[in-house]
Amino acid sequence: MIFEQSKRIKSLPPYALGAVKSLMHEERAKGIDVIDLGMGNPDKPTPQHIVDKLCEVARDPKAHRYSVSKGLSGLRKAVAFRYKEDFNIDLDPEKEVIATIGAKEGISHLAMALLGDGDQALVPNPTYPIHLYSIVIAGGKVISMPLLKENNFIIDLNKIKMSQYSPKPKVLLLSYPHNPTTATVDLKFFEDVVAFAKQENLVVIHDYAYKDLHFDGYKPPSFLQAKGAKDVGVEFYSLTKSYNMAGWRIAFCLGNEKVISDLAKLKGYMDYGIFTPIQVAAITALKGDQKCTAEIADVYRVRRDVLIDGLAKAGWNIPKPNTTMFIWAEIPDKFKAMGSVEFSKLILREGAVTVSPGIGFGEYGEGYVRFALVENEERIKQAVRGIKKVLERK
Ligand SMILES: Cc1ncc(COP(=O)(O)O)c(C=O)c1O
Repeated sequence: MIFEQSKRIKSLPPYALGAVKSLMHEERAKGIDVIDLGMGNPDKPTPQHIVDKLCEVARDPKAHRYSVSKGLSGLRKAVAFRYKEDFNIDLDPEKEVIATIGAKEGISHLAMALLGDGDQALVPNPTYPIHLYSIVIAGGKVISMPLLKENNFIIDLNKIKMSQYSPKPKVLLLSYPHNPTTATVDLKFFEDVVAFAKQENLVVIHDYAYKDLHFDGYKPPSFLQAKGAKDVGVEFYSLTKSYNMAGWRIAFCLGNEKVISDLAKLKGYMDYGIFTPIQVAAITALKGDQKCTAEIADVYRVRRDVLIDGLAKAGWNIPKPNTTMFIWAEIPDKFKAMGSVEFSKLILREGAVTVSPGIGFGEYGEGYVRFALVENEERIKQAVRGIKKVLERK
């Protein structure tokens, strides 16, 4: 069949992280034991009490019908309960909460709900790819906000000169703790974002996927803790990382009533909601003992130390992040000129370790690679030995 590809599909470039991934498959096909620290896909299982609830509800025939697109009432109440417990934030489960099929789906459809052809959005660079491509898919235009080392990878609001843009941007997207840079912000930063959004009439979308992955006594703030945040925007909170529920596909959009209502309207046309047993198990996750999230975070803390301490001994010094499941590492001087894709390929071929090249997250990610801490301590030690060989190369 011959048909012309749509403008939308043509606007999407090949997946930038794909080149290293296909090389990894080639190496594995040769029988090489490659340690995959590429994709941020949690390797540990979902806590047992959540899985048990899923199985129990799945046996009930009443749970097999279409579910509710915006999420069961009990589920929306459960996430409002979690925000009250964790931050003392009040959310109206009827108007200020909607369930989404993961944050990725929610962000993509929210971009469609908020933006039309040619509308502009401010997006960090580097960043998690869907932050950018959700805007492109919606027909919008991306204005990059560079995240620079000298500003600790924090957006510099003073550098955004709104008067130079036509049409004026409608949306400001941000995400802290940040993937891939692991940067964090304090509540004051979110307060500044609220003031800026009010002044410039922007809708803020904050992706808070790493809410619970924090260590060393640090706790990253929620955007909704900033006074007036609900007047200007929403926050995405996902169960993927907090409870190792990546494959379950469940997250929430929380905050501004009008924004939630538009997303609910669009999703009402597009889906029938997440499988009921998953929603009920998610209630168990949110209302049950939260010890499990601390345990999950601790696994990443230990792996972080093994990787960073090991690489430091091999001569590669990387600062320790206090959040996320990633390490954002500046490429050593000796290898910098080759660029992040070629450096990642070198580590793969000669060290048998997969990492993500920084440029895959946007051009301002060049000069870095990202490690995802998704293999166990022994395997990470093996990865360090492989990388050491590469670093010692003449
Ligand atoms: C910043 C960020 N947002 C969202 C996601 C994906 O969340 P979900 O599984 O809920 O779609 C990820 C996954 O790596 C992420 O890094």
